[in-house]
Amino acid sequence: MRADLVIEGRAYVGGRLIETAVAINDGLIISVSNPALTPEAEERVVLGLGQLMLPGMVDMHVHMRDFNQAHKEDWYTGTLAALRGGVTLVVDMPNNDPFVDSLAVLREKLEIARSKTLVDFALYCGAPRNPHEIPEIKKIACGFKIYPEDYDKLPGLLKYLEENLIVIHPEDPEIIARERSAIVRPRIEDHCKIRPKLAEIKAVERILEIARNKRLRLHFTHLTTNDSILRIASSKLCGASISCDVTLHHALLSSDVMMMLRGVAKVNPPLRSKGDAEAMLNAVRSGLVDAIASDHAPHLLEEKLREDYDEVPPGFPGLEIYLPIILTQILNGDMPPRVLDLYSRRPAEILGARKGSLAPGMDGDVVIVELGKEHVIDPSEFASKAKYSPFGGWIVKAEVKRVYLRGILALEDGEPRVGMGVGRHVAGS
Ligand code: DOR
Ligand code: ZN
Repeated sequence: MRADLVIEGRAYVGGRLIETAVAINDGLIISVSNPALTPEAEERVVLGLGQLMLPGMVDMHVHMRDFNQAHKEDWYTGTLAALRGGVTLVVDMPNNDPFVDSLAVLREKLEIARSKTLVDFALYCGAPRNPHEIPEIKKIACGFKIYPEDYDKLPGLLKYLEENLIVIHPEDPEIIARERSAIVRPRIEDHCKIRPKLAEIKAVERILEIARNKRLRLHFTHLTTNDSILRIASSKLCGASISCDVTLHHALLSSDVMMMLRGVAKVNPPLRSKGDAEAMLNAVRSGLVDAIASDHAPHLLEEKLREDYDEVPPGFPGLEIYLPIILTQILNGDMPPRVLDLYSRRPAEILGARKGSLAPGMDGDVVIVELGKEHVIDPSEFASKAKYSPFGGWIVKAEVKRVYLRGILALEDGEPRVGMGVGRHVAGS
């Protein structure tokens, strides 16, 4: 047996840190074994002191924009941000301009993504405009993203979407509309009032009710309240096939950050109280949630600095800092090492992708990180076009040094070593 590449050193494998050697051939991991037992290899990389190898991370909720919003982000800058964050599979949302809810737009998006991407990618489709297109859409999209304004369409679509991944943004649009209309001139301080926890809880309840006794694979994204997590856990106990994710901003930041950073920290759903954030952090620590996702949502800084509440678009970038923050939390003893699975193995399993673990048969996606040295997060250095972050100024103790994508050196010291289009489309299951 021969390998193209063997990487030897300390690694995160099966939830533990071990000394091992990962052999990759034809883009796939062929063995994870004692270094003395590895096959002959074209190239052998030995990790240095303080270095650790991890599987490529999987971010199941990102916004690469492009199309008519390429000024905010495009598939090249967005996926360079992914590489810098050790992410080798991104799953992109359909709320583009134009919105992706038809086969024609989905196909166009696939071509744009294919031509520019630096990492592997999968695409969600929005609630399809024409249900007759669904069989063809399923060949391209790994799942469907249902936004609050499309909840009403869900019951009619269910019979076409059995067995498919359906990702839900849980915020009840009627509650939000009512709260918004009660305030004449909202300020950023009103963001949480306009999008209250109740909107999320009611949406979770409504969707769980629609899905009850159906053969669906539901996934609730960016949860912010302990009540929604409990309702989802309770449905899981009843045998439903449901998963959910939490972002790091909802687990580590609270609304006082928004009071300081104003529109820069405006995000949907909003940052909530310290108690809510602590609950999300505990949900992550305890494995009550299935995944961590960044909701990388780039906008122009000038848009984020607008005075008028309604004119500030929600969201901020996250891709390049998620892994360093998770590792720092682990090093500080604030998260258990197994949390790494929530940003790699678990989302890969939810998506049905052959990624996210250092194990034979998986794609040869390996991230080499250096641990220990402190860095200050400086958003002005982001590869993303959105060069701001509510995590700006945070100290992290981990740095992505190298990323291998299916055995190919894709990034070294922050610089891409591959060209546009190297990433592959992952259709999902
Ligand atoms: O904050 C958000 N930004 N939440 C969303 O649901 C959409 C996203 C975006 O696309 O900017
Ligand atoms: Zn999003």
